Amino acid sequence: MDRFVIEGGRPLDGRIAVSGSKNAALPILLAATLADEPVRIGNVPCLRDIDTTIQLLGLLGCRAEREAGGDVVIHACDLRPEAPYDLVRTMRASVLCLGPLLARLGTARVALPGGCAIGARPVDMHLKGLEKMGARFSLEHGDIVGSCPDGLHGAHILLDFPTVGGTENLIMAAVLADGETVIENAAREPEIVDLAEFLRACGARISGHGSSVVRIEGVPRLAGCCYQVMPDRIEAGTYLVAAGITRGRLELEHCPLAALDAVTAKLREMGMRIEARGDVVVAEATGPLMCQDVTTQPYPGFPTDMQAQIMALMTVSQGAGTITEGIFENRFMHVPELCRLGAHITLAGQTAVVRGVQRLTGALVMASDLRASACLVLAGLAVQGTTVVRRIYHLDRGYEAMERKLAAVGACIRREKE
Ligand code: EPZ
Repeated sequence: MDRFVIEGGRPLDGRIAVSGSKNAALPILLAATLADEPVRIGNVPCLRDIDTTIQLLGLLGCRAEREAGGDVVIHACDLRPEAPYDLVRTMRASVLCLGPLLARLGTARVALPGGCAIGARPVDMHLKGLEKMGARFSLEHGDIVGSCPDGLHGAHILLDFPTVGGTENLIMAAVLADGETVIENAAREPEIVDLAEFLRACGARISGHGSSVVRIEGVPRLAGCCYQVMPDRIEAGTYLVAAGITRGRLELEHCPLAALDAVTAKLREMGMRIEARGDVVVAEATGPLMCQDVTTQPYPGFPTDMQAQIMALMTVSQGAGTITEGIFENRFMHVPELCRLGAHITLAGQTAVVRGVQRLTGALVMASDLRASACLVLAGLAVQGTTVVRRIYHLDRGYEAMERKLAAVGACIRREKE
């Protein structure tokens, strides 16, 4: 296992290029199985989860490879309906192959993804929506076995909750279904808009994506296409916080500012300066930062994937603030690790109360999940001294070359083997 060793206390200064979005690329790569011609996808980040998805596509019978130039080319020429547990358990997003497999093959066998560190993460809403479209499911030895012998048909689906993955699975299932599907209370995340735009580029007929009512008119087939994945708004938000927590100044290239309204609004409330200048976004913290109150919500609310990162910033800001986690039931595992660095945080159910301190102190801390690991790296950048973040494999799932990007703007950070 790898770990990061960080000598903090140095204001960052320089330019960082934001990579392609993990949470847009994952569904888009799996959606490529809906096309019966080759698909070329660009701006796909080099991440462990992307490698896992390319491996899964291979197991599903696709020709899927990343070319030297970085594009991923996929041809679902000989699709097979099975996604095995030992791969699904390493990446929950594998469940997003359920919709496409049912749409193309009328059958699917996908291991039921277990929970993960941040929560149980059931897929009941995915299955309920697909059943409305004519699919039938059984659970066999831990696998979701789905079938729709008469094919999928359009349906009017009202989601109990704007589930991101559920909305994505249902859109992918609906693009080849017979008739129109309406998804009400759909998730509105920018990654869903990106998925829909990719499918439209392949010939799908989708409207309303990005709003809470998405309409899909089924078509007989999807053609191939070339598509560029959107930049990663959570990676960008993480580096906005890096500028603030080190009291530095960063210029972000390819920063999807419009997809970060709730994050930039909160960081500005805390006292950061964030503004677009030409084709870069400049983020800096010149004066003191003030804690604020944050509640994570579905988009366009404050994203749960930025909760741990803004908590790190608040630990070294003035005053006190509350952070309420409104999406996942167990997404505070970074709290005890931040307290090991000297942060003052108390938990009451789904709310953390953060009282800012003058400075954090270095320690050995343990990453528990993707965004918690980013939070601990951010805190380490603020520590006057040495911080060691263990189990960095969590970070490698979702941040492309983080230590290289941070070192290039002045951070003293190195990766070591445990
Ligand atoms: C996506 O997960 C993202 N992952 C997550 O990012 C992100 O935190 C989450 O959306 C919320 O924005 C990808 O896009 C690959 P949900 P997803 O379905 O689709 C409950 C990261 O750090 N729920 O919107 O799994 C669920 O338990 C990752 O990049 C059901 O109860 O999220 C959760 O409490 C972490 N039944 C809530 O809804 C269902 O059928 C939101 O889940 C589906 C979801």
